[in-house]
Amino acid sequence: TRVAVIGGGANSEHEVSLASAAAVRDGLPAASYDVVALTIERGGGWRDGDGRPLGAAGAVALLSTCDVVFPAVHGAGGEDGTLAALCALVEVPCVGSPTGAGATAMDKQLTKLVAASVGIRVAAGRVVTPGDAHHVGWDGPVVVKPLTAGSSQGVARVDRADDLEAALKEAFVHDDRVLVEEVVTGREIDVSVLGCADGARVVPPPLEIVGPGIFDYATKYGGGADLRVPAEVTEAERDVLTDTAVKMYDALGCRGLARIDFFLTEDGPVLLEVNTMPGLTEHSQAPRMFAAAGITYPMLLDRMVREALR
Ligand code: DAL
Ligand code: MG
Repeated sequence: TRVAVIGGGANSEHEVSLASAAAVRDGLPAASYDVVALTIERGGGWRDGDGRPLGAAGAVALLSTCDVVFPAVHGAGGEDGTLAALCALVEVPCVGSPTGAGATAMDKQLTKLVAASVGIRVAAGRVVTPGDAHHVGWDGPVVVKPLTAGSSQGVARVDRADDLEAALKEAFVHDDRVLVEEVVTGREIDVSVLGCADGARVVPPPLEIVGPGIFDYATKYGGGADLRVPAEVTEAERDVLTDTAVKMYDALGCRGLARIDFFLTEDGPVLLEVNTMPGLTEHSQAPRMFAAAGITYPMLLDRMVREALR
């Protein structure tokens, strides 16, 4: 099977996507896959595996020679459904969620609306634009997050009214719509869901991110994160997390792998966000959860591709 693995991307998660794509290229079982590498540059534009500029037409031509595309591109211009749409138009199967699910999940406010519509709890909050930023009152600590940025960029917890303006300013660097949410107190738990051809959903043990404060960009990629798999949750908690993650996956119309992040509170899970192309190095959260279920990294990648080809 000839598989195009796309990495990079024209957004602030560029480096993260390069790492995911490199890991995917190495991890796909060599006996079954002939890998074609493509990279989207930080400022846009395509390059082939040797670093030669391709041009959009060249990229489309190369993708068209492949049996399947693996878009290991997090964030805007990739995970947001853009690459799924490109593949649909050039009629090449694409690993992961279709355009609608990717686009919805990339928008944290739309994601919350979908979650609420199926009875999944979300943090109370509101969307703020630069024009109405000065109308945001102070009601106690809040979390500020750009609606569409990934890897926690621009996300801040604000504990003092005096710090709100600076946090909003920083968030507006990433997006012109920003969520201001109540602080939810709970354990940060991630759940992976892998949809299968027969309609079954594989949900490996959840993972807990242990540590003080926000799981921010520096902690995520600086190696300082304490990830525990399986998370120490009760059987009842695990059941609720699993059911809620699957319900959200299905409500969005996800396909393939998704990682659904929650705060587990005393009253149950509160949805944080959905990643339709979660971090995919071997040490990222989702692969670690599957490893805990006996599904090795190459097996996971193989399943993701086969799911796209069915
Ligand atoms: N957005 C990053 C890649 C993640 O969800 O893992
Ligand atoms: Mg994310």
